[in-house]
Amino acid sequence: MAATIIDGKALAAKVKDGVRQEAAQLPRKPGLAVVLVGDDPASRVYVNGKKRDCQECGFYSEEYALPAQTTQRQLLELVAELNGRQDIDGILVQLPLPRGLDEREVLLAIHPDKDVDCFHPFNVGRLTIGDPVFQPCTPGGVMEMLKEYHIDPAGKRCVVLGRSNIVGKPMALLLLHAHGTVTVCHSKTPDMAALASSADILVSAVGKTGLVTANMVKEGAVVIDVAMNRNEAGKLCGDVCYAEAAEKASYITPVPGGVGPMTRAMLMKNTLTAAKLHQGMD
Ligand code: GUN
Repeated sequence: MAATIIDGKALAAKVKDGVRQEAAQLPRKPGLAVVLVGDDPASRVYVNGKKRDCQECGFYSEEYALPAQTTQRQLLELVAELNGRQDIDGILVQLPLPRGLDEREVLLAIHPDKDVDCFHPFNVGRLTIGDPVFQPCTPGGVMEMLKEYHIDPAGKRCVVLGRSNIVGKPMALLLLHAHGTVTVCHSKTPDMAALASSADILVSAVGKTGLVTANMVKEGAVVIDVAMNRNEAGKLCGDVCYAEAAEKASYITPVPGGVGPMTRAMLMKNTLTAAKLHQGMD
């Protein structure tokens, strides 16, 4: 039976619409500052998308496009200034930073109440104990998708491919909090295919085109493809061999139009949360 396609674009539009309506009730518009250092073309595309989302949600947004030669000190000064601004609720420093800049120190400098990416160790800690203020955007977006399609991870075997701080680790935590039995696979995992093929819910976040082949997909599995790769032809694609996986899966996310738009929608949701917090409306 053909898989149901999980429509991330449609769900993201619905989430953003809800955010826009809630934001309109606040005394002050939510404000997001987006900081982009250097000229990575993919990062530029992401940042443009985030600015567009802010407009759609009725948010105030500011973009800081800094040259690749920006020093650590200059970047930290900007973060400190944004931390102190009353009209800025969320601060997003687009990753990866150019070589020579210390990502960890920058993320630590963002005030946890403005950390709409949920990357600050304080927020990661809150997430770990199951008491988060913000949802990590990509894994949070995946959880929203599962909820929308009435897919309950409770009691399910969940396999996450990839262990990054941005996706793999927080994804595993959210699935665990939702009572899934979670396995995280990575580059040193022997026989990843066998583990993947045991999954009721398979999430791939590695960034390797063609990684997930049909033999790694259990009949009836839910397949979530988080990756955004470019194939040889320059076309956007995920980790999953979509056509062959879709023949076995019960549900599958496309790339593009799957997880990507949901990541951005969750950023808007987090910025709204931050704005409510700052305006005493939480
Ligand atoms: N680079 C890739 N994904 C993300 C993200 O979710 N947030 C930030 N800040 N940078 C990223």
